[in-house]
Amino acid sequence: MNKYAVIGNPIQHSKSPIIHQAFAQQEGVHIEYQRLLSETSNFIADVNHFHAQGGVGLNVTLPFKIDAYHHCVDCDDYAQAAQAVNTVRFNTQGQWLGSNTDGIGLLRDLTHNQQVDLKNRTILILGAGGSVRGILLPLLLQQPEHIVIANRTLEKAIALTDLFSSQGNISACHYEQLSDHPVTGFDVVINATSASLSQQLPPIPKCIVGAHSLCYDLAYSDSATVFMQWAQQQGVRASCDGIGMLIEQAAESYSIWRGVRPETQPVFKLLRPE
Ligand code: ATR
Repeated sequence: MNKYAVIGNPIQHSKSPIIHQAFAQQEGVHIEYQRLLSETSNFIADVNHFHAQGGVGLNVTLPFKIDAYHHCVDCDDYAQAAQAVNTVRFNTQGQWLGSNTDGIGLLRDLTHNQQVDLKNRTILILGAGGSVRGILLPLLLQQPEHIVIANRTLEKAIALTDLFSSQGNISACHYEQLSDHPVTGFDVVINATSASLSQQLPPIPKCIVGAHSLCYDLAYSDSATVFMQWAQQQGVRASCDGIGMLIEQAAESYSIWRGVRPETQPVFKLLRPE
């Protein structure tokens, strides 16, 4: 009952084994947690094989989160809203049960670790890809005043606002339109573009932030991301990367599998000793 893994492609960079082993040590149990490299055509067979070998829980990462969602016989509300699954467990027939802990992980990092109360706050999200779809429901449930999604391809941002408009006040725009947006300096700006991965910035004007803003990059890196550097140059209150979201989503997965929510602070110290 103690066999877990993270499956993706590529996978060798994944920090999940370190995080989950630290959680298990905290709980005082021995677990096996491996990295599984899968090819797109073998993903479902690889997961079933893992389960047949005694595997009880899996984290799913890129590019398989949507495939996992489609193969699950039951999903939680967050996975349903994201149409993506990052946490799988199995029922007695070996069928897949899906959850998505990414959005809850972000929320926990924002509200608990960064001490931001999102109620009545203004939030700007840069990007409109899969990761945005995964974070919108938990953010909207905090009842922010307004969420704006800015994206290069406006249609993708509009499609997301259409999907989530029943849950709260949400709108879409192009980056150029941010300059004449009525809000001067959003309370929270979340960079969910994949631009950070190639050391690029989306075309954002300075007026989107003020001295009170928190800037959050979903990407993480051993040094400040380009978005964090930009935010620091604008004199924002705080900027951080997505390492906290990574650790918190892992803690949520761990608690789904084992019924125990581990302490995350010791793992921050393990991954970021400075
Ligand atoms: P993910 O699953 O990480 O969200 P994705 O679905 O491929 O990845 O989405 C990537 C997002 O980053 C998109 O919103 C993309 O904008 P488009 O929808 O217009 O393609 C955005 N993106 C990627 N590179 C960018 C860049 N250099 N500047 C601005 N936006 C960028």
